[in-house]
Amino acid sequence: MTVASAVRTARPKGSIEPILNVTADDMGRVNEMILAMAGSNVELIPEIAEHLISSGGKRLRPMLTIASALAHGYRGEGHVKLAASVEFMHTATLLHDDVVDESDMRRGKQTARMIWGNQASVLVGDFLLGQAFKMMVEVGSLTALAILSAASAVIAEGEVWQLAAAKRMTTSEADYLAVIDAKTAALFSAAAEVGPVIAGAGEDARTAMRDYGRNLGLAFQLVDDALDYGGSAATLGKNTGDDFREGKVTLPVIVAFERGDDRERAFWRRALEDGENGEDALAEAMALIRRREALAETIARAHHYGSLARAAGETLPGGAAREALLSVVDFCIERIS
Ligand code: IPE
Ligand code: IPE
Ligand code: MG
Ligand code: MG
Repeated sequence: MTVASAVRTARPKGSIEPILNVTADDMGRVNEMILAMAGSNVELIPEIAEHLISSGGKRLRPMLTIASALAHGYRGEGHVKLAASVEFMHTATLLHDDVVDESDMRRGKQTARMIWGNQASVLVGDFLLGQAFKMMVEVGSLTALAILSAASAVIAEGEVWQLAAAKRMTTSEADYLAVIDAKTAALFSAAAEVGPVIAGAGEDARTAMRDYGRNLGLAFQLVDDALDYGGSAATLGKNTGDDFREGKVTLPVIVAFERGDDRERAFWRRALEDGENGEDALAEAMALIRRREALAETIARAHHYGSLARAAGETLPGGAAREALLSVVDFCIERIS
């Protein structure tokens, strides 16, 4: 089965359009807030922050916050600051992550670390994280602050965990899932959960949005990890093959290793544990992943978590925001086709 055929299911086609439309007005204010809060008299800060911010990014996470607040009938302005702080947390993570992963390309441009160096990237990431917390405090919801600050710690934990698991072919599927739950799903989950929180919705609504975001985040990262082997740098805006070169044990590798024979397993150990990961090795890795249908398996898992996200989202009250939140689930999975 090819990747594209694994993705094609009976599902309605997902789209990012509905969530872009539903959140358009508020996201205009979120983007203004982001630019304002990236300002500083220390010139290097806006220079680096704007490099990354102006290169775009899908703004998925802040749109989740806006749409989930609107879906619960929120009428105030607090969701704008919370959404901006969610995107700042994400941007800070990317600045730090590109240092950790030694990545050269992000959002179709050179990474900040390639232009200004690792030290500046880490420090500006810290600045953005600080600004994110200032905005959360201004909103004045201690519960939203608790959710987002907990996510911030969990993301960092996930990144450290992943670092410790790298170059170890003993990494299990359960280890992998725990890592992506922490490094990616935690922020999606928090971004969605703070919507009902500031809207004053009940515990059930919070649980539904937390589950929605978490499962969407898991599906999103599974697809991202499949794209690192099966996608193109042009559409992704970042280099493919990075995970392989870094010795990251992601699900496509775990599945190919599990299904592989002794010779294949020896290859994976040499490549990921001993660092024999040149261009020829990457081509061999792609061939083995294809032979063992490991991308199709990874995408099947993404569909599974996508279904869980949809099920949680379907409990929302009807309306355009609900439809937008449901449609973006399929969009996130279909971006691989
Ligand atoms: C990148 O996230 C980091 C991952 C969790 C894989 P996005 O793909 O949402 O990044 P941008 O913000 O759109 O660039
Ligand atoms: C991105 O993770 C950062 C976090 C989710 C914390 P990855 O390293 O897997 O993603 P990319 O490929 O750099 O975007
Ligand atoms: Mg990375
Ligand atoms: Mg990383």
